[in-house]
Amino acid sequence: MADGVGDYIVGLFAREDDLLLALREEADRSGLPPIAISPDAGRLLQLLIAAIGARRILEVGTLGGYSAIWMARALPPDGRLLTLEREPAHAAFARRFLQRAGLDDRVTVRVGAALELLPALDGEAFDLVFLDADKAPLPTYLEWALRLLRPGGIVVADNALRGGRVLDAAATDPDTEGVREFNRRLAADPRLTSILVPTHDGVAIGVLGVR
Ligand code: SAH
Ligand code: DHB
Ligand code: MG
Repeated sequence: MADGVGDYIVGLFAREDDLLLALREEADRSGLPPIAISPDAGRLLQLLIAAIGARRILEVGTLGGYSAIWMARALPPDGRLLTLEREPAHAAFARRFLQRAGLDDRVTVRVGAALELLPALDGEAFDLVFLDADKAPLPTYLEWALRLLRPGGIVVADNALRGGRVLDAAATDPDTEGVREFNRRLAADPRLTSILVPTHDGVAIGVLGVR
């Protein structure tokens, strides 16, 4: 939502502080792709974390740590965020900024491909799982999220609109198909209360039923 409404919402509810601004500037200079979540998505994640008193968060797709910093700032001091990242250079950048943010005690960056790291987490229980890595395997990431979430936990996915490509029947690339199938499953799963919120690029949210 790069428009007047989006700017109004971000200006009121989701202002970035100097550290988040510096992170994005340095990420640009370092050649990291400019694909961190939007500030309104960061604020929405904080709201969800606060609403359910989340203490254990799993993120898939760290990049430079921008979304991890938004989320970790909403955690209590004993809260923990584990974030998975395939690219060692992205992980190193993120670790540096998490330290600058004073959040390195709360956040662990684990390097590897998500589908190789997720099996080691089997048996753990997370309050919130944020999916923001590659899009083609999103249906599989959803299965993992539902396996790793506690009842009442929340799964969130960024880029749920893919710049509008999910609406375009001619867009059949594996990434768009992955997002579409994820959205269909999220919407239809009887265990979930779900919605797609039209932030900047769409944030899909599902709450796992307690029953
Ligand atoms: N959540 C970040 C943005 C993530 S961009 C933020 O908002 O700040 C997507 C990231 O996922 C990239 O850093 C990319 O290297 C990583 N990624 C892509 N495929 C992956 C995979 N299969 N396993 C782990 N990380 C992956
Ligand atoms: C892209 C954007 C994202 O926000 C993301 O998480 C992954 C990929 C992209 O535009 O390619
Ligand atoms: Mg994203």
